[in-house]
Amino acid sequence: MPVFITLEGIDGSGKSLHFRLLVEYLRSKEYDFIATREPGGTPLGERIRELLLDPAYPMTVHSEAFLYAAARSELTLKVIWPALRAGRNVVSDRYVDSSLAYQAFGRGLPPEFVAAINEMGTGGLKPHRTILLDLPVEVAMERKAAGPRDRMEQMDAEFFERVRAGYLELAAAEPRRVKVVDATRPVEVVQAEIRRLVEEIWPRPRRDGSGPGA
Ligand code: TYD
Repeated sequence: MPVFITLEGIDGSGKSLHFRLLVEYLRSKEYDFIATREPGGTPLGERIRELLLDPAYPMTVHSEAFLYAAARSELTLKVIWPALRAGRNVVSDRYVDSSLAYQAFGRGLPPEFVAAINEMGTGGLKPHRTILLDLPVEVAMERKAAGPRDRMEQMDAEFFERVRAGYLELAAAEPRRVKVVDATRPVEVVQAEIRRLVEEIWPRPRRDGSGPGA
């Protein structure tokens, strides 16, 4: 059985760097997988991503939730499900937990609403394992100090406090799926833990080398 693994965390948690390092590692092992990112990962999804992150387009929290869900529906139905059905593993930089943390806990939309539109849009697909990079908001904001900020990154510390608390609540509710990793530690230490958590559930190659993950 192929696995679907996601990486989550607030902006400035080092998630994008760790995702890149993880993908390089999995490639070096010649594992069979595809890597996706959200929002984006399909031509329409990348266009939706531009709209979502452009500070020139303020939007209602509902539009925001629907647009993230629309980009996710494209990615899940056209890329992730077909890959899993073909026996390939999938690793994704963000998935539904991002919408629960940002749009429900962060923006204040009812979690049932955010969960419902995403469940419909994804056919109910859930990750087998989610790795949550956790760190205090002040530390994350310091890391993000330089450079231009997109529409989401322009939110204040209180917003990210709610997002972080939301993520931790999701982890507490589903401890078997969501693994919390302390992201304040050095990159090599954090990356080693991520690889361990991924390989713990990664399908074993068959002896003859023909199985998934071979
Ligand atoms: P991010 O992973 O930070 O992209 P990058 O590292 O390339 O800048 O994701 C973009 C932003 O979108 C980020 O601020 C989190 C936000 N987001 C949501 O609010 N809801 C969602 O469902 C997703 C997928 C992302």
